[in-house]
Amino acid sequence: MSNWDDVKKNVGEKAATLVEDGMHIGLGTGSTAKWVIESLSKRVKEGLKIKAIATSKESERLALAGGIELLDPCVVTELDLCIDGADELAPDMSMIKGRGGALWREKIVATMAREMIVIIDETKLVKKLGEKAKLPVEVSFFGKEATLKEIEALGFKGAFRKEGVALYKTDAANAIIDLDTLLSEDLRDQHKKLIGVPGVIETGLFFDLAKRAVVGYRDGRVEVV
Ligand code: 5RP
Repeated sequence: MSNWDDVKKNVGEKAATLVEDGMHIGLGTGSTAKWVIESLSKRVKEGLKIKAIATSKESERLALAGGIELLDPCVVTELDLCIDGADELAPDMSMIKGRGGALWREKIVATMAREMIVIIDETKLVKKLGEKAKLPVEVSFFGKEATLKEIEALGFKGAFRKEGVALYKTDAANAIIDLDTLLSEDLRDQHKKLIGVPGVIETGLFFDLAKRAVVGYRDGRVEVV
């Protein structure tokens, strides 16, 4: 393939074929998820009947532009399927997510889905989480410096994400701290410690959610595993 965006497009198109008529689905966020939304929009125009919840304002905008009917996330309790990207995927299907800043909504939507399919290119496959990606943690602006201090007291090193000179703001008007290091092998314990800090809203560690992955390779192959 000439570039990674073509690989992502292949992955998104393949993942969209796994959506069946009548399904209620969760739409992920990012440069791979956008191809799923685009592909599903085409299928909707051809008669596919689906309803969706989007994990970000951008995905919501793309879905609405593509004619995908959106559900009210305040009342929905269950989805058939969620399709979303990841920054890293480990062999046990645990993930780091949140490079796109949508991790909080993404975790809520993935949790309400009966199945999550993760859509990635081969560069996201790692033996151990934290090999390449930083760990995003969504925190409230209220008390943000105290929250960072508490996180650092646990032994983590991190910095607030920026957008230009300003601090990055999520769709829910929160900040993101990107952590450099994962401290130990026990990632569930790290998640527990981080989520226990007042001010931490969610971490980018996703466990026990993805059951299948659609993986795209530079040579043009797309595998569903
Ligand atoms: C957004 C995410 C994205 O799914 C993740 O960053 C992967 O994005 P992309 O498909 O653009 O590589 O977690 O919060």
